[in-house]
Amino acid sequence: MNAPLATPGQVLDFVRAVEALDDRALPADPAVAAEIARVWSRLRAIAVPAAGLPRSDHPIVGHLAAALGAAAGPAVEVTTALGAVAEHLPWRYGYPRRADAPDLGERIAFAEIIGPEAPFRSEVVCLGVTLIAPRTLYPDHHHPAIELYRVLTGSATWSAAGRSRRVPPGELVLHPSGVVHAMRTEDEPLLAVYTWSGDDVRTTSVYA
Ligand SMILES: [Fe+2]
Repeated sequence: MNAPLATPGQVLDFVRAVEALDDRALPADPAVAAEIARVWSRLRAIAVPAAGLPRSDHPIVGHLAAALGAAAGPAVEVTTALGAVAEHLPWRYGYPRRADAPDLGERIAFAEIIGPEAPFRSEVVCLGVTLIAPRTLYPDHHHPAIELYRVLTGSATWSAAGRSRRVPPGELVLHPSGVVHAMRTEDEPLLAVYTWSGDDVRTTSVYA
């Protein structure tokens, strides 16, 4: 899109599409179902910004077209709404630079839409988008928040608590508070929506 700003209403359309995706989810794990319920009970009270969101100049934006274009099935409703605002989200890489992977700041980015420091304010819940370029390791990291990922596009290897598995689009991945986790992409980018809840959504993620 070429508009100079993405309107708050357009961003809310994306959030509502994520809610619809979660409404249709039938998680086998009761902990995942409980987390979905907790997240959306907290998301009912968020402060909507008055101003629109400017275009991002983060290099990860160059991977958006491939990531969004790979959507299929139930993810399409979400990626369509996301596509209308994706270039205008506050993409950033929040970790210190790593000597062993100095380009991670260009290959991994997070757009937090709702949260304590995000355009839509909440002190109790976060919602954002993670985009990881192909052939990239997002190294072991952890945070006190409970995290639930909805994989939109891209199959990647996900690791948590020492166990690894290939996760296809459409899956939900729950990371309990403090559990060390990582993702590795292969030939396609990984695009996923995350939420944070729990007792502490303000403490940022750190590498393990
Ligand atoms: Fe995480």
